[in-house]
Amino acid sequence: MLTQQTYIMLKPDALKRQLLGEIITRIEKKGYQIVQAKLIQLNAPLIAEHYAHLLDQTFYPKLETYLLSGPVFAMIVVGPDAIQGMRNMMGPTNVFEATPGTIRGDYATDVTYNLIHGSDSVENAAIEIERFFG
Ligand code: RTP
Ligand code: MG
Repeated sequence: MLTQQTYIMLKPDALKRQLLGEIITRIEKKGYQIVQAKLIQLNAPLIAEHYAHLLDQTFYPKLETYLLSGPVFAMIVVGPDAIQGMRNMMGPTNVFEATPGTIRGDYATDVTYNLIHGSDSVENAAIEIERFFG
C-alpha cells in the first residue's frame, strides 16, 4: 500500500443539501487525513479545464450549470491507496449502479448531481491538486 494524495471536491449539491459533515465524517472514519481544505466558487474556465475530457459531451452544459450553482468544498485527502479508496467510497458515476454504503449510492439519485468528485489516477491527482491548491 502506498500513501497517496487525492483531490476530492464536494460539489454544490453536497453543500445545499447540508451533507458536508456527513461526507467528511465518512472520509475521517475510513482513516484518511484531510490535509488541506477550502470553500471555493468555481468559474467556467476552471470547470472547462477540470472536465476537459467531457467538453464535447451533450450533457456538458448541464454539468457546467451545476458546478456554477454554488460553492464547492475542495480537499486534499491523504492515506494508503487513497485515490482508488476514495473512488470506492464514492461509488460509480452512474448512481443507478452505485450500491448502498457508497456516498453516491446512499445520497444521490441523478447521474449529474452526484455530490462528489475524486481524482481517478496518480497523474490526475497531481494535476488536480496543483490546479486547485497550487
Ligand atoms: P468526477 O470526475 O466528478 O469524480 O466523476 P466521475 O469520474 O465519476 O465521472 P466523469 O465521467 O469524470 O464525469 C464527471 C461528472 O460529469 C457529470 N456527468 N453527467 N450523463 C450525464 O448526464 C453525466 N455523466 C457524467 C457527473 O457529475 C460526473 O461526476
Ligand atoms: Mg472523473
